[in-house]
Amino acid sequence: MAERRQTDVLVIGGGAAGLSAALPLAEFAQVTVICKGGVEGGSTNWAQGGLAAVTAPDDSFESHIRDTLISGDGLCNEEAVRFTVTNGRKVVDQLVDWGVEFDRNGPDSPDGEAGTFHRTREGGHGERRVLHVADSTGRAIANSLWQQATDHPNIQIDNDRVAVDLITTDHLGIHPNRCIGAYVYNDITKEVDIYQARCVVLATGGASKVYLFTSNPDGATGDGIAMAWRAGASVANMEFNQFHPTCLYHPHAKSFLISEAIRGEGGILRLPNGERFMERFDKRMELAPRDIVARAIDHEMKRLGADCLYLDISHASNDLIEHHFPTIHSRCLEFGIDMTKDPIPVVPAAHYTCGGVVVDLNGATDIPGLYAAGETTSSGLHGANRLASNSLLECLVFGKAAADHIEANYQNYDLPADPPMWDASQVTDSDENVVLSHNWDELRRFMWDYVGIVRTHKRLERARHRVDLLKHEVQDYYSNYQVGPDLLELRNLLQVADLIVESAMRRRESRGLHYTLDFPDHLDEIADTVLRP
Ligand code: FAD
Ligand code: SIN
Repeated sequence: MAERRQTDVLVIGGGAAGLSAALPLAEFAQVTVICKGGVEGGSTNWAQGGLAAVTAPDDSFESHIRDTLISGDGLCNEEAVRFTVTNGRKVVDQLVDWGVEFDRNGPDSPDGEAGTFHRTREGGHGERRVLHVADSTGRAIANSLWQQATDHPNIQIDNDRVAVDLITTDHLGIHPNRCIGAYVYNDITKEVDIYQARCVVLATGGASKVYLFTSNPDGATGDGIAMAWRAGASVANMEFNQFHPTCLYHPHAKSFLISEAIRGEGGILRLPNGERFMERFDKRMELAPRDIVARAIDHEMKRLGADCLYLDISHASNDLIEHHFPTIHSRCLEFGIDMTKDPIPVVPAAHYTCGGVVVDLNGATDIPGLYAAGETTSSGLHGANRLASNSLLECLVFGKAAADHIEANYQNYDLPADPPMWDASQVTDSDENVVLSHNWDELRRFMWDYVGIVRTHKRLERARHRVDLLKHEVQDYYSNYQVGPDLLELRNLLQVADLIVESAMRRRESRGLHYTLDFPDHLDEIADTVLRP
């Protein structure tokens, strides 16, 4: 039997953004966090390089702000950048308080005084400012937040739940509009439950699973972006899909990430013949912003007809590799690659969704009662290209900002009237699951081929045509059969693909991560691509 649940605040997503909102919210409200896939289900758990924040005496907010703006290629909102960067130290202190043990310099460290944070470097950063826990920073942060949330008496975590759609009063014919909960598929009972809440925080992560090759976990299917769009929220800058330049190239590696911190510590990109090539593309070489490095690799692979290029850190000491990169080192060894001796075969893969649900500095969307934080949003921080390791920072800053704003406005969020239960009376069980698996594959392949690192108008048109066909087919399926995780995710991916293609077609220039052969230059006028339902 489907259930009706009531909570004060519903947080959809158990990654860095969701839990960093849930913890301060739980100081004054009952919070329910729903997620799919437990602590490992979100990208947070897989983050490697670290968290960018100004913590060194010779670093400055202005320098971090400048690097972020340069990387964003003219499209960042400077106010959002300033807000995020200046909150960095607070976030670090909070994480340390919650139990995250960032690496610190030892007595012989060349990188700083003993006992201070060890800071690594990544592309686009003018300073060493990325705090890390070896090369599994995300796991350390995810585990600490998860532990804090599990231990908190006012937080209930419901795992194996897939939010289907948000509930707004508009949809119930009650005005003014407000978000009052969500329909949620329970993967244990196979029923769609209803979660009623005073307000909702959306923190469902990114949508890189829309591409065939991605560094992201399987659940990165853009559910929050699609749900917010269907509920009537604005979405912006969806054309800016970040491709990470270096994922492990191996048939069984499933796009395992090879951290940018390896280039930060001196890793060199090489062609199959061993030649270093980045100087032909950017004077910052391997440490140029990610869009430039990914495009350079893509260009060289296509020029040479190569299956992959190589990242070489074999000249570094074994000590550095084994201590700073133990996860990558051991994962490579599993595939017979010893990075202390050999270059690592690498290819680019879809990594980060820079656009998303439009939020202000309070994490508020344009639907009252609906907040959002983290990779699911477009906060203005990333502009046309996210600076490395700014994402975890954004999750933590905006998660807390949303919680603070909800607290300040709590009196406006009374408990809503009962929305109707999910109606499953008109649908049957499907005996045609092949439709889902086929359409998943087709979508991800043509998005990779037609809406990838280098685009053309013609390819985008082809993609649009195919998205339209699949959307029709899947909508028909959705109306007739019981919902399940695969169907829900495919429906959301198609919605996201539609938004990406539409945004890419509207941007008649190349900027940041959006590069099209038809319009290779910047336009003088700089504008976000804002789509309204
Ligand atoms: P996530 O951590 O992705 O969490 C999303 C949550 O929402 C999950 O709990 C998921 O189960 C849940 N969810 C999704 N859909 C639904 C639904 N329909 N119903 C219920 N729950 C749902 N960034 C950095 O700053 N530094 C790094 O070093 C770094 N390294 C990275 C390495 C890798 C391999 C990857 C993939 C990303 C990396 N990033 C890094 C990016 C960063 O990890 C993510 O952007 C960030 O963790 C996103 O956090 P989030 O809380 O927004 O979403
Ligand atoms: C990495 O370690 O290369 C990922 C960093 C990021 O995505 O910010």
